[in-house]
Parts: sequence; C-alpha cells; structure tokens
Amino acid sequence: MKVTIVGAGAVGASCAEYIAIKNFASEVVILDIKEGFAEGKAMDLMQTASLNGFDTKIVGVTGDYSKTANSNVCVITSGIPRKPGMTREELIGINAGIVKMVSTSLLEHSPNTIFIVVSNPMDTMAYLVHKSTGIAKHRIIGMGGALDSARFKYRLAEALGAPISDVDGMVIGGHSDTGMIPLTRMATRNSVPVTEFLSKERLEQVAADTKVGGATLTKLLGTSAWYAPGAAVSSMVQAIACDQKKMFPVSTLLDNQYDLSDISIGVPVILGKNGIEKVVNLELTEAEKAKMQESAAAVKKTNGLLEV
Ligand code: 2OP
Repeated sequence: MKVTIVGAGAVGASCAEYIAIKNFASEVVILDIKEGFAEGKAMDLMQTASLNGFDTKIVGVTGDYSKTANSNVCVITSGIPRKPGMTREELIGINAGIVKMVSTSLLEHSPNTIFIVVSNPMDTMAYLVHKSTGIAKHRIIGMGGALDSARFKYRLAEALGAPISDVDGMVIGGHSDTGMIPLTRMATRNSVPVTEFLSKERLEQVAADTKVGGATLTKLLGTSAWYAPGAAVSSMVQAIACDQKKMFPVSTLLDNQYDLSDISIGVPVILGKNGIEKVVNLELTEAEKAKMQESAAAVKKTNGLLEV
C-alpha cells in the first residue's frame, strides 16, 4: 500500500506519522513545494521508526510528482490553513487553484488512486476534485465528518464525565462552523441514548461547541489544528488499505441521496478497498432534514465561487 500526502505542513506530517505508526502501509510519500521541507519531515519521522516500531518507509520530495507514482491513496492537505477569526470558506481563493493543480498532477502519475481531500473549504475542494478529474465518485473522499465526530465525542464525554471509549456519535452535513449537524438524537453512552443522561440544554451546548471545534483550536493555536485531522485521515486510509468496511461520515458526491444532488457533503458511508463502497441512508427527523438542506445550500453557495 503506497500513500502520498501532499503538503508537509502540520496536518500532512501528522497524517504521515499516524499512518506510519499504524504500520499498514509499505510507503508514504510526503510532497511539498518548499525546498527540502518534505525531505526534512520524512527524515525526522523515519528517525522515530525504531522507537515507534514501524517499518513503513517515509520519503519526502520537493515538487517531483513522479515520486508519487502508483499511489493507492493520495491525501491532499496542501493550501493555506485559516487564521483566528477566519472561516474555512475564506480560503477558497488561494486553495482552489492549488487543489486543482495537485489533484490533476497526482492523477497523472497514479491513474487509479483514491483521493482524500482535507484542504479547506473541504466540501467545495472535494467537489472541485470531482469536476477537475472526472474520475468515479467513489474514489474522492472529503475528510471532515470523521474529525467533527471525534470532536463531538470529546464534547459528549466531557459533558457525561465518561471515558471517550464509552461514547459514540456522528456529525453529518457541511464541514463548516455553521453547517455541521451533530446528531445528538443518535449519540450513545455504551448503547444508552445520551438523552438519558444529559438535558436538552446541555446537549445543545455540546452541539454548539462541536460546530466551532476547529475555530476554537485555531484561536488557541493561531492556526488550524493538526493532530485530530491527521488521526482522522489515518483512520480513513487504514479502512481503505485494510478493506475494513468501516462506517465514517465523509464528504461524498450525492446523487439524490438525502434529497441532494451535485454536491459533496458529509453523510455516513462504508469505506473499504474501493473507497466509498456504500452511502448509508439515515432516517432523519424533519428538523434534521431541514438542517441538512440549509447546510447544503451554504456548501452550494461556496461551490458557486469556483471557476471549474
Ligand atoms: C479543522 O476543522 C482543518 O478543517 C480542519 O481543524
């Protein structure tokens, strides 16, 4: 299993580190445009191999896409991260051109690759990859829901005073501060609905804190988070690499599911060796359906800014 990660910044390097530590990939190539940067990150990570016990070979390259040839999965983290106070959507002007160039360059050397799109505004960037590559939609996966769900579980465990391992929950909808839909109705503590433990008001606060999870960290860190995004990507790559048939909420191009079409947005899917193997149709309440339509309208508005 060969994985390419474009962007050797904090998110890309975390993706590489967690993929390597999970030891399911034979090779991880990190590519960046900054001279020597990816090579340095790769070398530093390789020097943890004996300490972290992995055999994955991590290679860094500057700008040379030929070194990414025949990658099974390509992760696109390139572009600028947001600064405190910015929305993800404000990044489109710079990141769209980068993502379009990167995706077409990767595909040239890895015609069968599966893409995982991280760059923001992620749902729109995933949509851009569909439009600029024209490849089968099951091979383009936007990473947002897995990260948002991890933040949701963190907030649920905090509210419950429970260990994270006792908690389950899912976030669907757009990967944006306003468009996320934490499914509080379905969240559980060891199979018991969390509504048995938490008031409506407390659950609303959990959902609100989840939606701004990224912005909260950007304010604290001065830039976008990287550990949880990296961990989310590595779990998705592992599900593909090991054909796990694991369910994740991801941004996927919908064709009339959830009453939506011609949009990439977060819904639960089954990930396996072919990428998105099945879209899971949840029975949403009328209120959840309305939130989904509202979230989709915002994503489509951002998509409208693309020059595809
Ligand atoms: C986040 O929410 C980078 O969009 C990503 O942290």
